[in-house]
Amino acid sequence: MTKTAKAKLQQIQSVKGMHDTLPADQPLWEKIRKTAKTVADFYNFKRIDVPLLERAELYERGIGADTDIVEKQMFLFSTRGKERLALRPEFTAGIARAFIEHGLSQLGSPLKLFSEGPLFRYEQPQAGRYRQFHQLNFEIISNDDDPIYDAQVMIAFWRIVESLKIKNASIAVNSIGCKNCRPAYRKQLTAYYKDHKDQLCEDCRRRLETNPLRLLDCKEEKCRELKKEAPIMIDHLCSHCHDHFKLVLEYLEEIKAPYALDPYLVRGLDYYTKTVFELTAEGVDFSLGGGGRYDYLMELLGGKNAPAVGFAAGVERIIETIKAQNVNLGLKEKAKIFLIYIGDLAKKRCLTIIEDMRRNGIDVAESLGKESLKTQLNLADKAGSPLALIFGQKEAFEDSIIIRDMTTGAQETVPLKKLAESIKRRLV
Ligand code: HAM
Repeated sequence: MTKTAKAKLQQIQSVKGMHDTLPADQPLWEKIRKTAKTVADFYNFKRIDVPLLERAELYERGIGADTDIVEKQMFLFSTRGKERLALRPEFTAGIARAFIEHGLSQLGSPLKLFSEGPLFRYEQPQAGRYRQFHQLNFEIISNDDDPIYDAQVMIAFWRIVESLKIKNASIAVNSIGCKNCRPAYRKQLTAYYKDHKDQLCEDCRRRLETNPLRLLDCKEEKCRELKKEAPIMIDHLCSHCHDHFKLVLEYLEEIKAPYALDPYLVRGLDYYTKTVFELTAEGVDFSLGGGGRYDYLMELLGGKNAPAVGFAAGVERIIETIKAQNVNLGLKEKAKIFLIYIGDLAKKRCLTIIEDMRRNGIDVAESLGKESLKTQLNLADKAGSPLALIFGQKEAFEDSIIIRDMTTGAQETVPLKKLAESIKRRLV
């Protein structure tokens, strides 16, 4: 390549709204994933993985054609075979499809499922809002709508947040009714907003015809003002939804979950019925996650009736909360013992010593690319290693090795055969 051609090559940047997770952040990510897995295992949620790509129609039908996600936020494309596909913007619709496709109802009821991984939404990136983000997703699919399941998913969510030492978390809860009681409420809400149509933002004027419940979720100041006088769903619940919601709250009280009623809470996905909820915490102004009950989704996707409830927590938002609250999770990596060599013969044999340590379950750090003893000792010191192993020409000939206590500086030569045993004795 000529010099001018090289100069023309521009550095390639990451795609807008999509981020690298660098090594320094990996321990925190790992901790969050581990915490979610521990909670999932304890409450008997089985892992399910669904593809990153699905037919666009799955989300159009499942999430709803008039939702922001489907209207504006899907990464859509056509394949060479002219299939319309979408990068998954959420897990729930994909899990519902898999549940139907594989007849997972045969696994028994309730079926508790856990997923985690990346999702994609074409949004305007800002704090807590990205184009690629990650969720921890929990679902309980059943053959009835027992409110105990609503409480159980909320408890699982709360336990994750609590285990991650996030302070002052609170679950906002509401019921948005079912297909029996919601239409009458919808009518009343529409009538209320129609009377104030000229005070609404442009988006809400349009939504008034398609999805009036979404008006309660508008962030525009003038729409937020109007909301204060709007009719609320809990005043219009049918007796089944009313009793259902009452039990959900009683179960949350039983376990002393930090919940608060929010009669204006609606969610941005159309499949919800009855319970909806979002979890917030001190120090951040976004919700860490949300969820709710979706009793008709399976039928909407061509399956049999299977009421369900679930939630998804946003990993990036959890991380931002942990950072905003200065939570100390004690994530310092445990220092390893450090293997130091002197001379080419020793360097070569270090490869065997490392394998020996691996077989004995002893973690070793090394810097075999560095020759200077001083540099290697400095690195061992920087890494906070409790012990250094020093292996030189003499030791290589004698099949021995020096163990140096990095705190006291005391050294002892031991036979290579006894190395693992000697280290274990020192590390207890
Ligand atoms: P959602 O409210 O759309 O619900 O998303 C859940 C969580 O995912 C949000 O509260 C947030 O933490 C995170 N999240 C969503 N969009 C973004 C973004 N652009 N950037 C960063 N984080 C984001 C659902 O996805 C439902 N499927 C939840 C559910 C499961 N309902 C029942 N089961």
